[in-house]
Amino acid sequence: MHVGIHDLSFATTEFVLPHTALAEHTGADIGKYHLGIGQRAMSVPAADEDIVTMAAAAAAPIIARWGVEKIRTVVLATESSIDQAKAAGVYVHSLLGLPSSTRVVEVKQACYAATAALQFAIGLVHRDPDQRVLVIASDVSRYELDSPGEATQGAAAAAMLVGADPALVRVENPAGLFTADVMDFWRPNYLTTALVAGQESITAYLQAVEGSWKDYTEQGGRRLTDFRAFCYHQPFTKMAYKAHRHLLRFTGADADEPQVTAALGLTTAYNEVVGNSYTASVYLALASLLDHADDLTDAPVALISYGSGSVAEFFAGTVAPGYRDHLRTTAHQTAVTRRKPISYDTYRALHSTTLPTDGGHHPVPEQTTGPYRLAALSDHKRIYEPR
Ligand code: HMG
Repeated sequence: MHVGIHDLSFATTEFVLPHTALAEHTGADIGKYHLGIGQRAMSVPAADEDIVTMAAAAAAPIIARWGVEKIRTVVLATESSIDQAKAAGVYVHSLLGLPSSTRVVEVKQACYAATAALQFAIGLVHRDPDQRVLVIASDVSRYELDSPGEATQGAAAAAMLVGADPALVRVENPAGLFTADVMDFWRPNYLTTALVAGQESITAYLQAVEGSWKDYTEQGGRRLTDFRAFCYHQPFTKMAYKAHRHLLRFTGADADEPQVTAALGLTTAYNEVVGNSYTASVYLALASLLDHADDLTDAPVALISYGSGSVAEFFAGTVAPGYRDHLRTTAHQTAVTRRKPISYDTYRALHSTTLPTDGGHHPVPEQTTGPYRLAALSDHKRIYEPR
């Protein structure tokens, strides 16, 4: 029985800050952003957007296409959690009108957690192939203003319907796993922006790629040359290139640049204009590949998921026959092009705004035109509304 990704849909924010505007403020040569880190723009949430509104916006088209009947589990992966107790997926469950006979849970391990969620979902489907699992990765990446990490911010949600006989990608066994206790990037509960040791985080990522690949081969995985493309977690798109060159060198393969570009070139279209969407990033890379490649029918594709701290997983999927009939290319392109460009000052004001914590009733300014919004904070509760 094949189990895997039956549908994949992503959503992002109302606003976008082009890196040209950021460069005017920081004084950086635009080449550092466009070529050095491979980023052109970053998604910026409006005041009334968060991980819940993005998650619901990403998943709604999946529910519209397939209905709710077979979904008995929702797993939402995030590291931008809005509550220490209640799972964000419960709000999403309500906004999407899912039945009460559903289990909903939130999972966390930096940018890696959505891959754990996908693997858990696959296990559930193997136990009962009639069921489908809604896996959602939703994150807002925020670093301190004027820090080196600022240029790599972004935000997006990727929703996946996981089921038997999947229409898009059959996820294979085995998976290569790697965990190491490192402090390359973290966010204590009392901070709203992440702490990061930039260069160390790059080294930790490369070591994790190496380690997860090593385990993948030891578990009897495919050869590197089998893969048509490699979808890496992309904190910035040039990181995928660094990682792939590193993997080729580690395995003794030819790190020939045209081959590297052929393996990665189609995976970066969304992330280079969205920015780091943390848990969603590797699945935006997959969406970019599926949406832009000519024909991948039966092609093996590698997915390499990395979350700081750190946990990584190297796994493979084969693209299902007929997958092109189920793609959401136009909707994905619209999600990116519908965003409104904002000035650096507007971005800075949004970044500096924090939600009130006094427990009063506070309507949130109506800025988004998306399908769901955070309407108010009242008595310490988030009030969401569909449009
Ligand atoms: P930085 O110090 O501002 O930049 O930080 P830099 O000086 O390292 O320059 C970046 C690149 O631009 C370099 O290329 C420069 O040479 C080049 P490289 O040597 O690396 O190939 N450059 C230029 N290229 C062309 N024209 C120019 C020019 N000038 C410079 N004029 C850093 C960069 C990524 C460290 C910073 O943005 C940062 O701290 N980002 C956040 C951390 C991060 O993204 N880490 C990635 C790995 S960890 C990870 O992926 C997990 C994560 O997603 C979190 C999670 O798991 O939850 C972050």
